[in-house]
Amino acid sequence: MATRLRLGVNIDHVATVRNARGGQYPDPVRAAEEALAAGADGITAHLREDRRHISDADIDGLSALLNAENRPLNLEMAVTQEMLEIALHHRPHAVCLVPEKREERTTEGGLDVVGGHNWITPFVGKLNEAGSRVSLFIGADPKQIDAAHRTGAAVVELHTGAYCDAVREGRMEEAERELAFLTAGAAQAARLGLEVHAGHGIDYDTVTAVAAIPELMELNIGHFLIGEAIFVGLGPSIRRMRELMDAARGVEA
Ligand code: PXP
Repeated sequence: MATRLRLGVNIDHVATVRNARGGQYPDPVRAAEEALAAGADGITAHLREDRRHISDADIDGLSALLNAENRPLNLEMAVTQEMLEIALHHRPHAVCLVPEKREERTTEGGLDVVGGHNWITPFVGKLNEAGSRVSLFIGADPKQIDAAHRTGAAVVELHTGAYCDAVREGRMEEAERELAFLTAGAAQAARLGLEVHAGHGIDYDTVTAVAAIPELMELNIGHFLIGEAIFVGLGPSIRRMRELMDAARGVEA
């Protein structure tokens, strides 16, 4: 039976535009309200160590909104002591652990769970105890998926960036290979009992193939939706993505 995929809308880049001028406008919390009204199932925000987009005050505001609306906040963060304390304070519905390098423009690769196992596992344990659902953002590599399972995390989010870049740049053989990795990775993770999410770089041209991977339960999409909102508005930008996801799954909107 076809299942509906959840859509988490990442509102980081509303904060990027705000921060270009300082001040309060545009407000990511208002964007989150609009996103929920347009069909987002939850809101995703990445509090980076350098606070280049989302701020601590944004996380306060988003937590208050989502708690009041009884909708999930997915807090993306690096595996650091500072971030752990913030997550334990807010206890969001979900925490997605991501790698972070200050010089990168966005999250470029997945977390190295194989290499960081001893550091990541107790981290996952503390977040689990606090009641947050922990997700590890990883490439669709069988060793990383196995290692993610051993940390006790409930969820893996598979990095779709390489697939999406290959499609955008017309490298179609590579795109096929990347899609096959994602498909196999999702099946492996689900066999291990992990819930499987995906995200990074998804747009209208790439969402259909990704959303058709049957084990996926959630997509997290940000940059494209906020960019498209400049032309059509945030509500229509999100509603179109929702329609494409539902069509890929053969479910009624
Ligand atoms: N999922 C994770 C774990 C991410 O780090 C990001 C980017 O912050 C996204 C999804 C959303 O990616 P994009 O903004 O390219 O849609």
